[in-house]
Amino acid sequence: LSSIQVDVSSVQEGTQITVKWLGKPVFLRLRTEAEIEQARSVEISELVDQVARNANIDGAAPATDENRALDESGAWLVMMGVCTHLGCVPLSDAGDYVGPNGIGGWFCPCHGSHYDTAGRIRKGPAPQNLPVPTASFVDETTIKLG
Ligand code: FES
Repeated sequence: LSSIQVDVSSVQEGTQITVKWLGKPVFLRLRTEAEIEQARSVEISELVDQVARNANIDGAAPATDENRALDESGAWLVMMGVCTHLGCVPLSDAGDYVGPNGIGGWFCPCHGSHYDTAGRIRKGPAPQNLPVPTASFVDETTIKLG
């Protein structure tokens, strides 16, 4: 099966679930307002990788938070949980770009890549933002991958 449906009704704000899709982990995160605000306050010029890396939009779209979130409010962020350096699984709520109160952001412990609260690479050897896979809402509490 190349597409799956994920029930996200149990995901609390400020947390994520990880599911396996096509043999790889996918993070489905319900962000807090503070995580979203932090991500949206960043200028594109500050970013290492300035491309959105979102399979759902134009391949050349800039890496704004709006271009990476799944919904307009920015609450849902869905990304491959695969470090773009050598493929380790980044840890959430960790690293130098962790969100307010330690909530949000990712850190890859393998070689020290730091991703911000939008999953964008900010520091370390990884060359690209965590990719956003093909994803859409089936209903309010179900997200389809693929
Ligand atoms: Fe993540 Fe190397 S695999 S930093």
